[in-house]
Amino acid sequence: MNKPIAIANWKMNLSANEEADLADGIKNKAKDISGIDLVLCPSFIGLSAVSDAIKNTNIKLGAQDVFWQERGAYTGAISPASLKRVGCNYVIIGHSERRQNFGETNEMANKKIAACLEFGLTPIVCIGETLAEKQDGQTDNIILKQLNESLANIDLVGQEEIIITYEPVWAISGSGHIANAESVDYVLKLIKHAIFNFWPSHIAASNVRLAYGGSVEGDKIDEFLKLDLLNGFLVGGASLNAEKFIGIINKCL
Ligand code: PGA
Repeated sequence: MNKPIAIANWKMNLSANEEADLADGIKNKAKDISGIDLVLCPSFIGLSAVSDAIKNTNIKLGAQDVFWQERGAYTGAISPASLKRVGCNYVIIGHSERRQNFGETNEMANKKIAACLEFGLTPIVCIGETLAEKQDGQTDNIILKQLNESLANIDLVGQEEIIITYEPVWAISGSGHIANAESVDYVLKLIKHAIFNFWPSHIAASNVRLAYGGSVEGDKIDEFLKLDLLNGFLVGGASLNAEKFIGIINKCL
């Protein structure tokens, strides 16, 4: 079985100092935890401080976004090489909040995924349907379109990895509506089946992990832990509290 993974997405909630403090708190509580990949994704401005805070631990650093160009006149953008230099190993790509607020498309996600892999960063690719799409019976079509377009021509070689996170948009960020395990299982199976079209089966089986995100809280995920295809969670709100995040991590072990 693939190693479990727990990813904290702190979004735009904290200052750099607060992010470093939270990283410290998680580090202290996670000291004796092994057998799981822990990834903290602070804001861009907190990356350096969090990188320092988790130095010499097993905790990994992730960014919440990236631009696909290496350098140049791209005001406000951050390159994959800069993320790598500050200590990142992971990058969240195609989060629904970026799609909704910043016009991110599957094609842009595709370029970002390719750029991440080129620079040795593992993409955490977010896909998921909106409430309107769900009510319209479009979940399968949306998931498959997002996968097809964002993973087009992406090669995974050697140890390169992709994390695909199913985040139903209607379940994210304080909506309180966590998806039910049965519907998550259905979508994970859809994703798993689809990715065998992209890569040779041994790569699809071992270099891709599947996660769920959307109102993840410790007391709500017990049914999810029984899903064979699920490797972990992308946690927003609950990851802003070290104790709650550690609680989720402990459940994954
Ligand atoms: P949430 O956020 O856990 O607060 O719903 C998850 C996410 O958006 O990644």
